[in-house]
Amino acid sequence: MKSKFRTRDFKEKKQRGEKIAMLTAYDANMARLLDRAGVDAILVGDSVGMVVLGFETTVPVTLEAMIHHTAAVSRGTERALIVADMPFMTYETTTAEAVRNAGRLMQEGGAEAVKVEGGSAVLEAVKRLVDVGIPVMGHLGLLPQSVHRVGGFLRQATTPHDADILLADALALEEAGVFAIVLEAIPSDVARTVTAAVSIATIGIGAGPECDGQVLVTNDMIGLFDGPVPPFVKQYAHVAETVTASAQDQGAREVDLSDVRRETGFEPIAPGTVGGLDRYRAVLPRDDSGETLVAYADGLEFLNLGETRSWNGDAPFGPVGVQAEEVPLTGGGVAYYEPASQDHGRRIAIHAAGTDLYLESNLPRSRLLAAAAALPVQGLPMPAAWTFRRVGAATAERVSLETARASVSFPIELPSDLPAGFGLASVELVDAGYGAGVTLYLRDEDADAGIGTIRLHLEAASELPPATSADQSSVDIGVLPGRFTPDRSQLEWIDGGLYRSLDAPGLALDELLAIAISIGADEPDG
Ligand code: KIV
Repeated sequence: MKSKFRTRDFKEKKQRGEKIAMLTAYDANMARLLDRAGVDAILVGDSVGMVVLGFETTVPVTLEAMIHHTAAVSRGTERALIVADMPFMTYETTTAEAVRNAGRLMQEGGAEAVKVEGGSAVLEAVKRLVDVGIPVMGHLGLLPQSVHRVGGFLRQATTPHDADILLADALALEEAGVFAIVLEAIPSDVARTVTAAVSIATIGIGAGPECDGQVLVTNDMIGLFDGPVPPFVKQYAHVAETVTASAQDQGAREVDLSDVRRETGFEPIAPGTVGGLDRYRAVLPRDDSGETLVAYADGLEFLNLGETRSWNGDAPFGPVGVQAEEVPLTGGGVAYYEPASQDHGRRIAIHAAGTDLYLESNLPRSRLLAAAAALPVQGLPMPAAWTFRRVGAATAERVSLETARASVSFPIELPSDLPAGFGLASVELVDAGYGAGVTLYLRDEDADAGIGTIRLHLEAASELPPATSADQSSVDIGVLPGRFTPDRSQLEWIDGGLYRSLDAPGLALDELLAIAISIGADEPDG
């Protein structure tokens, strides 16, 4: 095993040009996993309040709670440096109180360093802590403990004046003795300047790639937190969904098909009609709120059929998205189709009188549609109430391309240069209160994960909206000036009084540009 990571290693890694890896943990098990993976430092963040304890901010987190979680993390950690957040109002009142509280985090919690938020306001406390032997990490930029003063979790140092103040704070914190500084939610050029100006390490979170290290909230990184996740977080897993699915499965009863017929009145597909797949499992939910699920398989091919008689209406089609493509079924009626993604197989939803069904499978689209057509139900169009959804402050209504064209004053042109297999899946009319926009969703009909969805949004406007990311850069789209945002793989430009935004997370800039330039050429059939 590598040797214990110490506070002095932060500076040494910076000098060697090696990146520092820091993640949060709040319990012994997660700490053990991160430690085993070789992270340099574990932050027992007061983010525990939001991602574990159910608070809306970090403000209610107490010293006792931080000691409790830090002690758990200490029990699971051997190599990584353990840094504990000093919670709100445990270091701001007097330096004596700051020392006493930091001392408790170390003596009772096993912390090896503490982190405090702020610049000039906390310098006295930082100096005193360092003087008495307590290593301190600073934290500048977005300060979650100041959320009520600032009025939200907002990006910071976005003006030259504020960037200068942040730089002065970083230099003052270095002078006061901190061994490293977290830079949260600031433009990457500001983070680069600060990183070059200080000799101690900077650890970024939403501050671009040029800090000396990065820190992330682990629960966001693995998709465990069931709440909003900042856009810069690279999610490696969607653990929350796995937990929900496993918990639902746990309560289900394994039954025979005859039990499914008797207890639900629903006639599951006869195994022979789903391309030779055999039924291997049927489960009934614990109670009326769940779904019946019948699974069919042959070798690696699988098809799951879920059936419910009582959608609660807040999630149309359960696992199938509201933007799924409407497809005709050979026996009559319609179904809604979604290609595979990294998280799920190809899916079909059928809304029928008295029941709703979904199928999920790795069979090709044509076989899946054939299985859907063999179901003893008639697929109906999506109920009107399901075609609406909220997107932040705006509403989006699913409509046909014809309706969209009739509803807006600008022409709706589809790109002609699309990747093979891609076509229009669905259209939404978006209303943000200042006139309608249109969003087109373009997908590969038979995709296996791959590129995912290409989204083209159009609305009347004569200039680009204000920049939202420090990483945005100017780019030429043919002869038109535009803007590129790499972390969203998004191009934006204005063409003849029409704002266009094109994004596709799976595409590189040159591929996006080719699609953008092709808009306005021959239109495929809508
Ligand atoms: O509390 C926390 O997890 C933090 C990180 C966001 C840096 O302070």
